[in-house]
Amino acid sequence: MEGIQIPDKIKRMLHSEYTTNQIGMSSASVLMFRDCVLKIQEIGDESRREAQIMEWLKGKLPVPEVLCYEEQGQKSYLLMSRVPGDMVCEGEYRENPERLTAVLAEGLHMLWQIDMADCRFDSSIEKKLQMAVRQVRLGLVDLDHVEPETFGEGGFQNPEELLDWLIQNKPEEEYVLSHGDFCLPNIFAENGRISGFIDLGRMGYADKYQDIALCYRSLKHNIEGKYGGMWESFDPDVLFDALKIKPDWDKVRYYILLDELF
Ligand SMILES: Nc1ncnc2c1ncn2[C@@H]1O[C@H](COP(=O)(O)OP(=O)(O)OP(=O)(O)O)[C@@H](O)[C@H]1O
Ligand SMILES: [Mg+2]
Repeated sequence: MEGIQIPDKIKRMLHSEYTTNQIGMSSASVLMFRDCVLKIQEIGDESRREAQIMEWLKGKLPVPEVLCYEEQGQKSYLLMSRVPGDMVCEGEYRENPERLTAVLAEGLHMLWQIDMADCRFDSSIEKKLQMAVRQVRLGLVDLDHVEPETFGEGGFQNPEELLDWLIQNKPEEEYVLSHGDFCLPNIFAENGRISGFIDLGRMGYADKYQDIALCYRSLKHNIEGKYGGMWESFDPDVLFDALKIKPDWDKVRYYILLDELF
């Protein structure tokens, strides 16, 4: 583990070789051990929330178990169990869009049936907009990873204009448990059933469409081949058939636009 600082307490808990995971887009380093995973990231609300929410969800949903959480210097170290199964952007789901959408819909339904009475993790629009103001003010919006239509001709001129629009056009919210980054690499399945939700730093109460929108966008990206091309002629709208709801396209658009600022 040359070059990587790891708190002694965690070092003593590591007993196998590891590989480095390159999937995520964040600045997090993820080390994959035989039966556990060490996620190292900058200390912040998200890193703390990720560990706390895993504790809150213990026994309620398939999430990793927190084996140890430490902070040292500017970094947080989350040692967690490895969830079984495969990311749903891999394995059998790569070849089978119907199975993929069915399992994604199952995942969303599992989140929505969680009792939120004692959930203190706020992922509402108000909270996200407060964070977005900071993102915009500090110039932290990553313009290299946005949808092609968001900025420029026919879209917004810049992140400030988008932020204003989001503040002026807030939709009604109906709170459920939201994953917060419901994209294919963060959802695991095994034998056709959900086996794990990971990457939980943005989880909390929010409208259903927070997750529906990012799920839809992730499906669409996979279909269009952004991540290697899965199927030519699959229509991502079937997600709504699997969910048995009529799409609210305004909300889908709103939450995709909101996510552009993070
Ligand atoms: N507990 C776990 N069990 C199995 N695989 C994991 C686990 N945690 C992380 N991984 C693997 O590592 C990848 C990256 O981890 P994660 O999604 O937590 O980080 P990230 O995407 O970089 O985070 P961020 O949301 O901050 O961008 C996952 O897509 C998954 O393949
Ligand atoms: Mg991830």
